[in-house]
Amino acid sequence: MSQKGTCDIALIGLAVMGENLALNIASRGYKIAVYNRTASVTDAFVASRGKQPNVVGCHSLEDLVANLKSPRKIMMMVKAGPAVDDLIAKLTPMLSKGDVLIDGGNTFPADTDRRTREVEAQGLLYVGTGVSGGEEGALKGPSMMPGGSPAAWPMVKEIFQAIAAKVGPKGDIPCCDWVGPRGAGNYVKMVHNGIEYGDMQLICEAYSLLKHAAGLTNDQLAVVFDEWNRGELDSYLIEITRDIFTVKDPDSGDFMVDRILDTAGAKGTGKWMSQLALDLGVPSTLVTEAVYARCLSAIQAERVRASKVLAGPDASAVKVDPKVFTAQVRQALYASKIASYAQGFVQLAAAAKENDWKLDYRSIAMLWRGGCIIRAQFLERIAEAYDAHPDLENLMLAPYFTKALADAQAAWRQVIATAVAIGQPVPALMAALSYYDGYRQARLPANLLQAQRDYFGAHTYARTDKPGTFHTEWIELRRPVSSSQASR
Ligand code: 6PG
Repeated sequence: MSQKGTCDIALIGLAVMGENLALNIASRGYKIAVYNRTASVTDAFVASRGKQPNVVGCHSLEDLVANLKSPRKIMMMVKAGPAVDDLIAKLTPMLSKGDVLIDGGNTFPADTDRRTREVEAQGLLYVGTGVSGGEEGALKGPSMMPGGSPAAWPMVKEIFQAIAAKVGPKGDIPCCDWVGPRGAGNYVKMVHNGIEYGDMQLICEAYSLLKHAAGLTNDQLAVVFDEWNRGELDSYLIEITRDIFTVKDPDSGDFMVDRILDTAGAKGTGKWMSQLALDLGVPSTLVTEAVYARCLSAIQAERVRASKVLAGPDASAVKVDPKVFTAQVRQALYASKIASYAQGFVQLAAAAKENDWKLDYRSIAMLWRGGCIIRAQFLERIAEAYDAHPDLENLMLAPYFTKALADAQAAWRQVIATAVAIGQPVPALMAALSYYDGYRQARLPANLLQAQRDYFGAHTYARTDKPGTFHTEWIELRRPVSSSQASR
């Protein structure tokens, strides 16, 4: 049925996220036109969950556009990549100056940069917004990270902030605010996902150590995670991990977690963050290790073969007190999490510099405070740190976190030493500690590295004692080495 010019917003793409976002928008009193490429999907939706006066099903893009109030706002919830470009190409001829196209997918930031420019060149406005929180978040309140054409923000702000998760003492601060121009919103979402990868890998490593070194059962793990969720680690990922340890397989009666094959999937946002960190030259090692850990998990059959060939240490020789060790793992996890978030914010700052964005790190921490997958109590501490020092170089230098790291470091080192002793891989915990130890060194061994580069490639070096660029004729100056020298 035609509802010409009556809808507040349109949404294209009725997969899980699209469908739930549409329902969320409708539930806040906005009238929404919906369209899916396969008409039967639209029909099924408007005949079931979407059967309400605020939801208008459309069978063509023309119909969808005609149903919108002007200036039109159209949200695309389709697979990131060429599908978005195709849709933009189809929609733009039907739109008028000042209309807004919104992409709510996990889009590569550079794609949003390009699309913003292309769409703006046609007199339209563009928004690329991160949307986090999965199915439930989309329905009840996601975290939203919009970027794109600044002029679009006042036009979408009301609806976006109405549907977003709310935090704060009165529950009225929306987890949605303008991030910055062009791809800034998608970049912040990508870093959110990279941090999510790091958090998940750290939790998996903690699980593996509690299981293998402390011998905890799934029931005991559920209790531990429940306790952790009431302190500084309080977060959505710790909470769902607790829940996972309580679930049994209805068929076998075994714990579900023990029945799941240990090969991790990935859709690619973690890899993007890692690739872009390399481009920027910033050490986002946690997400990189987390991506590699998933890669290693994926070669399961090969690992099973290798497990029968390659030697490990005698783990039974290493004894830990389960209670003491569990407390140490908690501290190691917290310290690693601080290092991981520090890396994420450092990458954001580097990207902001490169792209000429003015990011508000306090606000970003608060966008992630609710609704999203990495939502956690400690994001409030991060917001406070940036509130006190908006130009903070590194989160680890904020007094609250400096102290937390100092308090945790002995346990952190002990946990990693135990992991090494029993032969359990903990790449993310190690990457975090190496980053901490690397960052706090006034002098690193890169002096030797520069000497090597200059030796074999005349790449030159700088000196500690005078300014300038130097080269040494290493071969001319080198001296023969005799073993008797070493004993002197
Ligand atoms: C979110 C999530 C979401 C993401 C996945 C899966 O913020 O709601 O980050 O955007 O798609 O959770 O990511 P991987 O398949 O790469 O693990």
